[in-house]
This record gives sequence, C-alpha cells and structure tokens, in this order.
Amino acid sequence: MIFRSLETADLAGKRVLVRVDFNVPMEGGVITDDTRLRSALPTIHHLSSRGAKVILLAHFDRPKGRRVPEMSLAPVVAPLSVLLSQPVLFGEDCIGEAAYRAVTALENGDVAVLENLRFHPGEEANDPAFVTELAAIGDLYVNDAFSAAHRAHASTEGLARLLPSYPGLAMQRELEMLDAALGKPVKPVLGIVGGAKVSTKLDLLNNLVRKLDRLAIGGGMANTFLAAQGHDVGGSLCEHDLGDTAREIMASAKAAGCELLLPVDVVVAREVKPGTTTRTCGLDEVKAGDLILDAGPETVKRLLAAMDASKTLIWNGPLGVFEVPPFDMATVAAAKHAAALAVAGKLTAVAGGGDTVSALNHAGVAGEFTFVSTAGGAFLEWMEGKTLPGVAALEA
Ligand code: 3PG
Repeated sequence: MIFRSLETADLAGKRVLVRVDFNVPMEGGVITDDTRLRSALPTIHHLSSRGAKVILLAHFDRPKGRRVPEMSLAPVVAPLSVLLSQPVLFGEDCIGEAAYRAVTALENGDVAVLENLRFHPGEEANDPAFVTELAAIGDLYVNDAFSAAHRAHASTEGLARLLPSYPGLAMQRELEMLDAALGKPVKPVLGIVGGAKVSTKLDLLNNLVRKLDRLAIGGGMANTFLAAQGHDVGGSLCEHDLGDTAREIMASAKAAGCELLLPVDVVVAREVKPGTTTRTCGLDEVKAGDLILDAGPETVKRLLAAMDASKTLIWNGPLGVFEVPPFDMATVAAAKHAAALAVAGKLTAVAGGGDTVSALNHAGVAGEFTFVSTAGGAFLEWMEGKTLPGVAALEA
C-alpha cells in the first residue's frame, strides 16, 4: 500500500485532525497505564514543532452514542500535558460550537483534545453528516491509531475520505513492523499462537498455516488439538466439539508445508492456584481430574530450538496460565529466549494482543522485542489476513 508521507506535508498553520487511541485503562479517573498516550507523542511533536494546530480525536470506552460523564476524555488532558511538556486544551465536544471554540483558540503549535467521539451515534455509524461536521474543523487528517483501525467509524475511516490524509508516525511504524513479520518476512518464519480457545482464533490459525514455516500452538487451545489427536486431556480446558476443526487445521498446515509444533509434554495440577503442587508428564500420563496448565520442559526446548532456526517470529497468546506461577514457566522461558535473539540481531521478534503484552511484561522483556503491538482486536484481525478499514482508507 502507498501512503502520503507526513514528512513532506505542508503543516504550518494547518488544523490537523489526529485520530489517536486514548482508550487507556483507567481507575476512578486515573490512568493506570499510559502506553497509548506515549505512543502518540512522536506524531504530536512532529506536527506541533512544524507549526500545525494539533486537534486530537479519540474514543474512550463504549458509551454507545450517549454522553456518559464517566467516559469523558477530560482525565487524559493533564497527564498528556505533562508528557508533552506543554499545555493541552480541552474541547467539551468534538463537533459544533464547543469544538469550534477549542479549535479557534489554538495558536500554531498548540494541542487540543476533543471530547469522546462515541458520545455521538454518528461516530460508530460512520454517518456522512457527522463526518462532515468533524471535517469542518480540520484541514488535514492524520490517523495514528492502528489499534482502532479495524473499526470503520467516522474518525477512523470516513474522515480519510474527506480530507487529505496521512498515517501518523506510530501507525507508520506499526504497519512497517507488521509487514516485516507477516507481509514480507525474512524466512523461516515461526508463529506462536496461544490463549484459551481455538474458537476465537479459527480465522487466524487458518491464515497463519498458509503463511508460516512453523506454528507452535500453546495455552488452553493446544488441549483441543491434543484431544483431536486422541490424547486424554483430563479435566483441562478443551473444546471437544471442535475436534474436526482442529483436524482440518492440522491437515491444512500439512498441505501448506507448515510444521505444527504441539506440546509433547505438559505441566498439570489439580487446581489453578499459585504455588500449588504440580506434575510434569508426557501426553499419555494425564489423569482424570488433571488440569493441563503449562507446556512442559521438552516442549519448551523444542520451541527454543525452533526460534534458533528462524529469522522471524510472530507471537500472539501465552503458552500457559502465566498469571498464576508456576504456570508461567513456558511463557517466560520462550519470551526471554526470543528477546535475547532479538537483541542479538538474530531474530525479528514481533508480538501483539492484550494478553501477550501482559505476558511479555511479566517476563520483563517487552522492551527487548523488535516490536510489541498494543493493539487488541486490530492486531488479531490483521493476523487473520483481513483488510483494516482504517488502514485501507489512508491509501494515497
Ligand atoms: C482497543 O482498545 O482495542 C481499541 O481502542 C478499540 O476499542 P473498541 O474495541 O471499543 O472499538
């Protein structure tokens, strides 16, 4: 895809509408993780330092087209101002009189945040009248919210069709890194897909087996594959009704030449409790009442060897119940090994998805991966091979 470049845009004095993702975790009006604010900073600095009037558009939570005071974006203004080291104005609405007032008050280089777009039903409906009202307060449009790009909303899709549009710097980097991981990766490519259920990742698995050289399956979803192969998984999380589907995925992988790496040994326990008694065993030693909660050491050894033999890694989903030690062992060992290879320049290691980011943070290595996407749904849809409307609309 070809995009216009912000580097060459004439920005001085222009009102630039910037779609950011400020859908941050918040407790009692206090932001508990400001990663998404930080990721918007390079674009804001770029625009502001070139004399643009920077107007930030965002959603927060799901107010469903109504003004819900608890879902106001006002609490992001002060923390953003601290991160930017400059004042940030707040517009009480994203369209109409209040939006005009906020935008008119901006000098070149100033920054404003406008109130939650989703207070208006037109945002999610991508209503042309609402898009026109948004476009009326801007000259240019920048989308820096990859994590909202799977939504065809007014501010993520509609605006790109009305105003000259550009990807922001974070969006650009995200697209480049995702392309390096799955679009045009250096081979061999290894995927790791974990998490609880096969049913939520069917499209993703079907897309990946056609693109990767090896795919390791972990977490609860591996149990469904093991059961489909005839292994007894005891009382473990398992979608027994998806046996045929799992067998079809295994057949597609074989046909496409993608080697599937399933667990060869497992860690079981009787309950999911920190520090509980565990047992490591082979696949045919799982007893009734056992819960498979992590991959075993031989499985981990094979996975690390697969990483050593790969040039690119794309990872979504933990390998075990990493939130409850000691069931974090496989995930942590794999994360540390991938990080070390990435730091040594031997592996392009890209990971994404909510749980995956927490797992890498838990292992203390998120910063050492080549790239970690904080996008949830957008990252999954991209891994499924879908076109994201917010990205497609930016095409020049
Ligand atoms: C996210 O947090 O994943 C994005 O901001 C999208 O939010 P949504 O799922 O409410 O559209």
